[in-house]
Amino acid sequence: MNYRQQFAEEIYTHLQGLSKVEEINALIEEPKYNTHGDLAFPCFTLAKKLKKAPQQIAKELSTKIDASFLEKTVAEGPYVNGFLNKQIVSKQVIQRINTEKENYGSSAAGAGKKVTLDFSSPNIAKPFSMGHLRSTVIGNALANISEKYGYKAIRINHLGDWGTQFGKLITAYKQWGSEEKVRENPIKELFHLYVMFHEQAEKHPHLEDEARFWFKQLESGNEEALQLWKWFREESLKEFAKIYELLGIIFDSYDGEAFYNDKMDGIVQELKDKDLLSLSDGAEVVNLAAENMPPCLIKKKDGATLYATRDLAAAVYRSRTYHFEKSFYIVGQEQRLHFEQLFLVLQKMSYNWAASLQHVPFGFILKDGKKMSTRKGKVVLLEDVIKEAIDLAYQNIKTKNPELENKEEVAKMVGVGAIIFHDLKNERQNNIEFNLDEMLKFEGSTGLYVQYTHARACSILRKAPAKNNIAVSGLTDSYSWTVIKTLMDFPNVIEKSFQQAEPSVIAKYVLKLSQDFNKYYGQIKILADDTEQSSRLALVKSVAIVLKEGLRLLGVKAPEKL
Ligand code: ARG
Repeated sequence: MNYRQQFAEEIYTHLQGLSKVEEINALIEEPKYNTHGDLAFPCFTLAKKLKKAPQQIAKELSTKIDASFLEKTVAEGPYVNGFLNKQIVSKQVIQRINTEKENYGSSAAGAGKKVTLDFSSPNIAKPFSMGHLRSTVIGNALANISEKYGYKAIRINHLGDWGTQFGKLITAYKQWGSEEKVRENPIKELFHLYVMFHEQAEKHPHLEDEARFWFKQLESGNEEALQLWKWFREESLKEFAKIYELLGIIFDSYDGEAFYNDKMDGIVQELKDKDLLSLSDGAEVVNLAAENMPPCLIKKKDGATLYATRDLAAAVYRSRTYHFEKSFYIVGQEQRLHFEQLFLVLQKMSYNWAASLQHVPFGFILKDGKKMSTRKGKVVLLEDVIKEAIDLAYQNIKTKNPELENKEEVAKMVGVGAIIFHDLKNERQNNIEFNLDEMLKFEGSTGLYVQYTHARACSILRKAPAKNNIAVSGLTDSYSWTVIKTLMDFPNVIEKSFQQAEPSVIAKYVLKLSQDFNKYYGQIKILADDTEQSSRLALVKSVAIVLKEGLRLLGVKAPEKL
């Protein structure tokens, strides 16, 4: 069903070995206007070889080409334009999707290979931030897309559960904390203590020394420090679990920074052996001056390890454990330098797999044009935000469709879907504006619009007469053809979104398919009782299948009724 490839092969047979099939394929374009056909082959590169004008070549080729999947071939200046045979092609596309169902668009390109995806990775004892939400949603979509592309995806939550901040937290807890309060409202209370520490430390610098002391205790296994840390960690994880449950996201591993504690000496030793460490102000660093980058800090003056040290250990561990082909880090763009340094140090350590590591950065979430921040103790709890979205969706459903069964369940799909879709519909590097009302609109580029279109398709199918095994004959009108062509594009869309690590490619695609389908729905009497009815219904079914699958890849559910 790869008509581009077939077109290339057809052209190839008329060129007598002048060019390879792959070369021809790579040249084929999609004409700008659909009145110019579905495929266009430019003849410029052949001009030299054939010593003829490209216009002449196009003319000659167009008369020779004759294939059943093509309705006609026309020379248009230096281009050979191919018009697909709508009858034959639409029939093939519809049949294929109805046979393969949700497997349509799947690829074996990644078969037998693994990708690791480091995403979400919130920090213990701190609120789950908007930045972490973006990482979670983008990372989960990329994991789904990788699987669709054939890979085995390993979802890793690299928890921020180690570092000097735990020294601060322990200090603050011992000074001002209460067990009861932490149990009652862990994240809020721990974060409050953390903020308090910073306020107090400005006035009483000795607190910083104490914090360093406690982190040292933690790193060297002091029982009291460890007990507190463990407790903070557990309480935080319980809170995070609520968010993952709402979003429907599961991880293969929660090995965060602390997990690498006992692997740090090995890394430092290895850096030493490879002659990469130097001393700077008493700290051990890897000098990156030759690469125009600041040094990568490995060990502080007091012997404490750093974020980068743990990331080095993590990369080495993952390579040994998973033998990944590709390793994605879905982390905000503000950490660009950190990852550049990390990858460079691994290269210097002569790990050739360092080239398979990729930072997948993204922009900020803004509220009224400003960065949303949890600094200074202003806590917006993400769980509350998601619940608000679900609640809004529920109110919406109650007024618009009071008869709907399982309203709660659908409201959850819609509310959560709205947040996810809003995040994924724009290229990830862009900043996005957080506005729940905007996200939950029926019209426009929203998840709800796509969900609604899917539900509309399902509703038509429910109304369809129960005829069995009526043959699909193919559809030739222009509205169907637009839908068919978009459906045909799905496998390419998957490939592109994987190659670019860009879920927005799929989000934009399901929006386009929805628009095409809604136009079709507005113009064509789908349920009219004529000979093409079963073909039309099979087309509707194809649309429902692909919309649902596209949304699934993004992490959004598609209810059958709305
Ligand atoms: N916990 C970190 C933060 O919130 C993100 C960790 C990203 N992953 C990594 N391997 N460094 O900034």
